[in-house]
Amino acid sequence: MKVLVFGANGQVGQALVQQLSGAAQVLALHRHSSQACGDLQNLQGIAQTVRDWRPEVILNAAAYTQVDRAEDEPELAQHINAQAPAAMAEAAREVGAWLVHFSTDYVFDGSGHTPWREQDACAPCNAYGHSKWLGEQAVRNSGARHLIFRTSWVFAAGHPNFARTMAQLAQSRDTLQVVNDQYGVPTYAPWLAQVVCAALPQAMAQGMQGVYHAAPAGQTNWCDYAAYVLQGAQQRAPQLPWRVQTPQPIASAAYPTRAKRPANSRLDCSLLHQSFGVQPVPWQRGVNAWLEAEYPTP
Ligand SMILES: NC(=O)c1ccc[n+]([C@@H]2O[C@H](COP(=O)([O-])OP(=O)(O)OC[C@H]3O[C@@H](n4cnc5c(N)ncnc54)[C@H](OP(=O)(O)O)[C@@H]3O)[C@@H](O)[C@H]2O)c1
Repeated sequence: MKVLVFGANGQVGQALVQQLSGAAQVLALHRHSSQACGDLQNLQGIAQTVRDWRPEVILNAAAYTQVDRAEDEPELAQHINAQAPAAMAEAAREVGAWLVHFSTDYVFDGSGHTPWREQDACAPCNAYGHSKWLGEQAVRNSGARHLIFRTSWVFAAGHPNFARTMAQLAQSRDTLQVVNDQYGVPTYAPWLAQVVCAALPQAMAQGMQGVYHAAPAGQTNWCDYAAYVLQGAQQRAPQLPWRVQTPQPIASAAYPTRAKRPANSRLDCSLLHQSFGVQPVPWQRGVNAWLEAEYPTP
């Protein structure tokens, strides 16, 4: 199977390429690729890449993911998160390819305490979420066969993310305050890649296109998540100069950010489980795998 990957250097993109290696003929592109255009700012370029290479599947893991910065450059966020997926989807329809696209719990307004379902109303509370919502609509309305996976709190070894930032700050600061009133589920990118690769052939065989929520089981808040990361990191690497053992909980109101963050990022993933037989795994399993990769035993 010919698979074209955009955003191959990101957390999810890299995990997808690793997961696919050996099983598919993969063209993995990033922003500066020389073999074909992989720059989502170049709409004609990425459409031409699709037309030239004629893949059976396009995996779009590229995105503008800087949530705070998106408040200051919403047009650029929309260009990459909405207009580029639209151009990709149009070209996918032309060549008959499936488009797998990724979205986020940030398409919801973050209210309430129950996990969001696929059909719940979208009302993003910041510019990044708005750009991702526009991207979803563009893919859905394109006429291309598609899968959209909404996920949350993504992390992978070797990349900048919340877990790595917490571990670094715990070695450079004397105290660490982390919000404890925003709830969600940390999603390990290699787990997400496995889910995508398990679901995709079933979706293609049975025409099961649509939106699916994809996150592991359980829930946590940022402070408890940070505590879990620090405890594991300190157990695995006691020789490092840890200065903070445990983060202190604070309310979001005491930690203002440029972009508003949703308080409720929980995703109901029962449709994914029922449709593709994906077994729920606790989010801690992904963090444990991340800890093993970031702090290997000698
Ligand atoms: N990270 C999260 O917590 C999270 C949560 C929910 C949903 N998601 C969604 O999951 C998907 C994957 O996210 P991720 O965590 O893997 O993000 P990531 O690690 O930030 O990767 C995004 C990739 O997109 C690339 N990119 C940005 N602008 C580009 C452009 N103009 N042309 C080509 N590539 C470009 C980036 O390249 P550069 O490094 O060169 O900029 C980066 O490699 C995205 O759709 C994201 O919206 C992420």
